[in-house]
Amino acid sequence: MTPDDSQTPDATTLWHGRFESGPAQALLTYTVSLPFDRRLAPYDIEGSRAHVRGLVRVDLLTAADGDAILVALDEVEAEIAADTFVWMPSDEDIHTAVERRVTELAGPAGGRLHTGRSRNDQVATDLRLFTKAQLQTTAGLLVDLIDVLHERAVQAEGAYLPGYTHLQRAQPVLLSHHLLAHAWTFARDVRRIIAAHTAADVSPLGAGALAGSTLPLDPDGVAEDLGFASRFENSLDVVSDRDFVADALYSLTMIAIHLSRIGEEFVLWSSEEFAFVTVDDGYATGSSMMPQKKNPDIAELARGKAGRIIGNLTGLLATLKGLPLAYNRDLQEDKEPLFDAFDQVHAGLVAVGGMIETAVFRTDNMERAADESAAGATDIADYLVRSGMPFRDAHAVVAAVVRQSLAEDRSLASVVSETDGLGAEAAALLAAGAGIKLRTSPGASGPDPVAVQIERHAAAVADLKLAVRQLGSTSHD
Ligand code: ARG
Repeated sequence: MTPDDSQTPDATTLWHGRFESGPAQALLTYTVSLPFDRRLAPYDIEGSRAHVRGLVRVDLLTAADGDAILVALDEVEAEIAADTFVWMPSDEDIHTAVERRVTELAGPAGGRLHTGRSRNDQVATDLRLFTKAQLQTTAGLLVDLIDVLHERAVQAEGAYLPGYTHLQRAQPVLLSHHLLAHAWTFARDVRRIIAAHTAADVSPLGAGALAGSTLPLDPDGVAEDLGFASRFENSLDVVSDRDFVADALYSLTMIAIHLSRIGEEFVLWSSEEFAFVTVDDGYATGSSMMPQKKNPDIAELARGKAGRIIGNLTGLLATLKGLPLAYNRDLQEDKEPLFDAFDQVHAGLVAVGGMIETAVFRTDNMERAADESAAGATDIADYLVRSGMPFRDAHAVVAAVVRQSLAEDRSLASVVSETDGLGAEAAALLAAGAGIKLRTSPGASGPDPVAVQIERHAAAVADLKLAVRQLGSTSHD
């Protein structure tokens, strides 16, 4: 460090007290978090308001000083919202910036705002408030996507396609069954989001830097004021706890993975090879060179962005793994991955939802693929099982019939109709559209169980919507 890149100590940093020289430019450049944590401003202000009200309640602040700070906080909020707030080079983070401006506006009363508080409990509070609000948005967007999938499942009526295992045609499934499979998946994601919300719903204010306070603070009252379900139990734990960030990131990562899987299906289904779906023009892109191209970019990016979101989760976990109690500056690295995951997952839910809502399913091609294939082979084995044959023997009989049909390049139905013990009655099970109707067991892919499933799914979604409404926090985004 040369004398030129340091500043003399003055009131420009919150922690200048014990230093003889000011911060090096390199330190400020490397450690500053304001470019990304200014997004927490509304939550920082909300937390400060509750802190001030708490200080007034326990007589650590006079009502007059409290009012002066609250008025200043209103002004800071308005300036930030109107983009007229003047950020200073010394504002290393949002907490510093807000407190600096409050002190400018409120005069000496401003110097009392940080009584009994540290940026360590403050930043944890801000991030928990932010996470709760964002998770509520996530849950709402998930429910919207589930509604789209449910609606498209109802519209699909009796349309069917081959279900796949190993990406080989396996057995017929209703298109509604396939769409509802994704809808149930996202319903589990809603439950995970609600659990992550519960993890975030603990107030850290009053924990101070790490050990609480010698002052008669009222963390319970502050927690209630901020709408948290409870206050922290252990000051050391709560200032260093970022489990709630990991929980949120994991829930978001699972959503990203599920969007990615639908994305992959849409990439396949919209290819000329499958031709099961046409993506609406509004949700597809063209090629700058090849005029005939129509590309499923949303589906591809849903697949691609999942990698980055998994990276956000694993990056955070690696940041956390070696940290001794309690606060360490490493924890500042919790924000960008979380912000990015929320932004990307929210945009992905909207885009994929729009793509599915507007897609045209080419059910003629789907049904032809199901009818042309040997996807009814298991049904022939089941036919033999119904007449008393052990399944293993039935499997061997039908395998031989399949081998013969391949060797002779004939349809499975024609070989079945000429085979002893099978014949026309068995061959009828391979007629177009017959196989899907045979799937009658609970939760199966045929019309009868799917009709039941649609009812049960509607009820499950109604329950989810109720649970999401009960999250009840307020977003500032
Ligand atoms: N910008 C910091 C963070 O995001 C705020 C807390 C800083 N606390 C401290 N003792 N340096 O974690």
